Amino acid sequence: MALPEEFLQELRDKNDITDVVSSYVNLKRAGRLYSGRCPFHSEKTPSFYVYPDTQSFYCFGCGTGGEVITFIRKIENLDYIEAVKLLAQRCGMDMPQDSYDDSMAKLRRSIYEINRETARFFHKCLISPEGKAGLDYLRRRGLTDKTIKRFGLGFAPDKPFELINHLHSKGYSDSKLIQANVATRSRNGHTMSRFYNRVMFPIIDLRGNVVAFGGRIMSDQKPKYLNTADTPVFSKSHQLFALNMAKNVNTRQLILAEGYMDVIALHQAGFENAVATLGTALTPSQAEIMHRYADEVIICYDSDEAGTKASDRAIPMLRKAGLKVRVVTVPGAKDPDEFMKSHGDKGPAIFRVLLEKSAGDIDYKLEKLLDKYNINQTQGKVEYLTEAAAIIADSANPIERDIYISSLSEKLGVKKDAIDQQVQKRLKYSARQQRRKDFRNISDDLSARHDKINPEKAKNRRAATAEEYLIAFLLENPHMSQYITSKVPPSKFATEFNKKVYSVVLNKIESNGNTTLTALSQEFTQDELSYIAAFVATILPESLNKESLDQCITVLLQEYEKNLTESPKDMSDDDMLEYFNKLGKIKGS
Ligand code: UTP
Ligand code: MN
Repeated sequence: MALPEEFLQELRDKNDITDVVSSYVNLKRAGRLYSGRCPFHSEKTPSFYVYPDTQSFYCFGCGTGGEVITFIRKIENLDYIEAVKLLAQRCGMDMPQDSYDDSMAKLRRSIYEINRETARFFHKCLISPEGKAGLDYLRRRGLTDKTIKRFGLGFAPDKPFELINHLHSKGYSDSKLIQANVATRSRNGHTMSRFYNRVMFPIIDLRGNVVAFGGRIMSDQKPKYLNTADTPVFSKSHQLFALNMAKNVNTRQLILAEGYMDVIALHQAGFENAVATLGTALTPSQAEIMHRYADEVIICYDSDEAGTKASDRAIPMLRKAGLKVRVVTVPGAKDPDEFMKSHGDKGPAIFRVLLEKSAGDIDYKLEKLLDKYNINQTQGKVEYLTEAAAIIADSANPIERDIYISSLSEKLGVKKDAIDQQVQKRLKYSARQQRRKDFRNISDDLSARHDKINPEKAKNRRAATAEEYLIAFLLENPHMSQYITSKVPPSKFATEFNKKVYSVVLNKIESNGNTTLTALSQEFTQDELSYIAAFVATILPESLNKESLDQCITVLLQEYEKNLTESPKDMSDDDMLEYFNKLGKIKGS
């Protein structure tokens, strides 16, 4: 259901895009525009622009753009209605009653309630006779009752309907339980618990909502852990286990472990800044979330090869998010959980020493490299240096670089200049590679997205470009609409998508004169709005003048004629008449 146009108009008037964006991005004035560093991708030089005239934004780096609602949706990760609500709250407006579809918000609320009720049920079960096997298991693994309670651990009984019956009694429908993914539909159509006969680890978001569960089997059967699939309230690549607790520690330092049990064992040992991903490799978004609460991350993955590989992948990602990185490996144990258990009371003290003397990521890599080459032989030394130079160039900042180059020079008895040259060479090479990659990514991404939105543009490039100019012109100069439509009615547009945009804009102008992108936000999807913002943004305000307008009109009319002569079979009746008239004129003259 649509929100009333007047409501959206008022919302837009009261939430000036420059003000809204300013609370997330440091904007600098640049003539009629504002620019800043894009909040949607990481960049050093600003390519993100806000256009007060059209109340839109666009990033030339990553191609994200749109109006104020799109901005809030993206930056707060909300759906349309939730973003509107946030903006309404921001300016003290009430949402129009019952006139909008907030079923998504309602569904999410139900899922939070279902998850909370489920976590309660599992926990009660764990401390009841029915959960004895689960409680014994957790105690055997060294967890205290206090830890079990603190993490809200639970037990899913070996009866697939007990939880379902309980949730039914609280009034939740099968469909909601399935959408929350606490239940699944069995082959013969019964709704049954997704988890049974497992110890349960609730996953809690930063606002304290239970968003998902991990369930561990108590034997060697597979899968060892079963996790909630992604739901409307849960995306495993954006969550971190125990960050809800770790964020309160306030040391600006986080420990990143691999598993639930590692995190819990670390917390129990007094390291309450430990978090873990949810069974997947670290994502850039998780790294960014960590950067909100920390300046430094200490990776403490499993000591096996998989752990080493995972940490090699995590290091550049954390660095890129602006975090300092150190790496700890626990000696003589497979993971931090086993380490704590095997050291008993002394575990925490030893682990603290390990943390303190843990190497920075570069030391860690250089150390590992020593295993690969024999630096007592010339050949080995050269190969070691080449690779070490690459590590230093790729990971270190300029100050660190100098320190590492000096220490390598001393250690290997090689002149500092020689190592420096090697590092510089690598720096140039990497910068070139990166530029190429960025360019490829952005252009692939943009053209893939754009081709999908306006697929006809590829074949009608000349016309489509003129159409886009016309739309941009119209958005800026609504008073010219009569003049423009008298020359080019929508039917003369070559591409369907632009034709729709043009028609919608003309309608808006006719009904209330509002030509910001917000006015279009109900007719177009987020991607479409982003596409519109992109072409509007790429047309410089200076170029929006009558002369260029008339040129574009001429181009469009020429292209229209050309298309007519090329494919008379696709014409409407009116077009056909005009076409025959024209043929007549040409022949007759
Ligand atoms: P591990 O296999 O290292 O398990 O997986 P763990 O955490 O040390 O657990 P214990 O000590 O054997 O009980 C690390 C993490 O990978 C995810 C879980 O999040 C787990 O904590 N995982 C692992 C799964 O999601 N599914 C699996 O089947 C296995
Ligand atoms: Mn383990």
